[in-house]
Amino acid sequence: MKNITVVGVGYVGLVTGTCLADLGNKVVCLDVQEDRIAQLNEGAMPIYEPGLEEMVARNARAGRLAFTTSYARGLEEAEFVFICVGTPTGVDGEADLQYVRAAASSVAAAMHAPLILVNKSTVPVGTGDWVADIVRSGQRTPVPFSVVSCPEFLREGSAIADFMNPDRIVLGSLDREAANRVAELHLPLRTTIVVTDLRTAEMIKYASNAFLATKISFINEIATICEALGADVKEVAAGMGYDRRIGRHFLDAGIGWGGSCFPKDVQALAHMAVEKGRHPQLLRAVMDINADQRRDVVAKLKSLLGELRGKTIGLLGLAFKPNTDDMRDAPAADIEWNEFKQLDLARLRQAMRQPVIVDGRNIYEPSQVTALGFAYRCFGRGFGGQG
Ligand SMILES: NC(=O)c1ccc[n+]([C@@H]2O[C@H](COP(=O)([O-])OP(=O)(O)OC[C@H]3O[C@@H](n4cnc5c(N)ncnc54)[C@H](O)[C@@H]3O)[C@@H](O)[C@H]2O)c1
Repeated sequence: MKNITVVGVGYVGLVTGTCLADLGNKVVCLDVQEDRIAQLNEGAMPIYEPGLEEMVARNARAGRLAFTTSYARGLEEAEFVFICVGTPTGVDGEADLQYVRAAASSVAAAMHAPLILVNKSTVPVGTGDWVADIVRSGQRTPVPFSVVSCPEFLREGSAIADFMNPDRIVLGSLDREAANRVAELHLPLRTTIVVTDLRTAEMIKYASNAFLATKISFINEIATICEALGADVKEVAAGMGYDRRIGRHFLDAGIGWGGSCFPKDVQALAHMAVEKGRHPQLLRAVMDINADQRRDVVAKLKSLLGELRGKTIGLLGLAFKPNTDDMRDAPAADIEWNEFKQLDLARLRQAMRQPVIVDGRNIYEPSQVTALGFAYRCFGRGFGGQG
């Protein structure tokens, strides 16, 4: 059992803190949002994540999980402090580090015993060293500490399962002993632990997200070509995916990637490259293709409906993917919308003035939908899907 403080109680922090408590540690979760902490102390969830409410309640009841807004209280017994605050996009596409800076300064001012600062927020390469400088200069009296980068790879909607069964844990530090102590916290997860230096660990996170975004933009480009040539991108992706060097995941053509991570992380990586005089042409193309996918939805609608002004258009699935309430940078938010809760295609057909469906996720079979009398457009499904 270790004493752990988690700073930032959002999607990553609340899941991390709760899962670490579930593994038997004593965890205090700290946030500057008083209403968020008050809610949690009353057993209410500030975010939706399947299974989280029950897990929080169980660990709080067992005395392993507590919530506070006070750094003094939060750091009373801390051996490890996990930083899980947000790193949104700044004005020029860079990662905005104001919350990381504030968290590091507050930790520095409140810490009174040696601790290991574990950074889980996605931060530009070199931030670990910068955080160490902030803590060193902010301490009232010098207290030893180490910084370890431990980037998070969980996905909203399956965050608990991802935390408990990760593909790997990546740890980066200049202090190998500190990295080993963080590795010990993760031993119950029985997974591969990659230990490297700080900057490399920070880069592994960006490179991973950029690669996944690239895969999606790649298949979207193939979908556009399929549309022109009459091939079916779903079959193409399946045929490609059997090759183990390629794999089936992240080859779903459609409206493109969104959410709170890919857009800001790809942009931040490109920004880091430009700052160092590099030309991130692949990352730029990946972002351009993604922006085109959203425009393409509107173009497909116009091809079926003509002028969109004055038309009522229903939009299903507002979050960027299923099982999350996170609306940050969801592709759907760029387009006019309304919400449908259930989808009974035959009933929907009756209710619609003009039976038109643009399927941004390629979830329907073109022949079935058109047989019901819909004008249907999807992405890259050959001539049957009409593009
Ligand atoms: N959401 C994801 O799926 C995901 C996955 C992997 C990595 N990440 C990364 O993890 C980090 C956190 O993401 P998130 O989605 O959990 O963010 P979030 O916005 O849901 O939560 C961040 C929390 O930090 C709190 N906070 C801000 N400043 C603080 C301070 N000084 N002290 C204490 N708390 C403070 C906020 O009030 C908020 O509750 C980001 O860097 C993100 O890129 C997110």
